[in-house]
Amino acid sequence: MMERTLSIIKPDAVGKGVIGQIITRFEEAGLNILGMKMVHLSKTQAKEFYAEHEGRSYFDGLTEFMTIGPSVVMVLGGEDVIKKSRALMGATNSPEAADGTIRREFGTDGRRNAVHGSDSPETAVREISYFFDASELVGGT
Ligand code: CDP
Ligand code: MG
Repeated sequence: MMERTLSIIKPDAVGKGVIGQIITRFEEAGLNILGMKMVHLSKTQAKEFYAEHEGRSYFDGLTEFMTIGPSVVMVLGGEDVIKKSRALMGATNSPEAADGTIRREFGTDGRRNAVHGSDSPETAVREISYFFDASELVGGT
């Protein structure tokens, strides 16, 4: 099934200077970049974007982390792109992520884990529309 997903290169990875290496992972796996921008999230934006995590013990730390510097937000498209992008990312906790995954290579821990990827088609629609208008995407109008 052709899908879209919202992918974020988080502030830790942008700070490390590995934007290009992460994008290359996605492109070499055949995922297509349909939109991309660099954004420095405010605390309000981080809380809105991660609203489904409100009330979790890590919510404040997570939303603070997302504001420490700019992120790269991207829309990736392709066959089964939600599952494929999450497989390339690896497990949430970077040291436990499988060898060869983005989080294992570029992440630090269970918070500073280099990348975000939508977890379902419904979430992807909400997350993409949070950052992009249809006219900003390849194939948009
Ligand atoms: O990003 P992913 O879908 O793999 O994990 P999540 O469980 O949806 O959590 C979202 C984000 O919250 C993670 O990617 C981490 O950056 C952060 N987090 C955290 O700071 N501390 C935790 N104990 C769990 C998650
Ligand atoms: Mg998640």
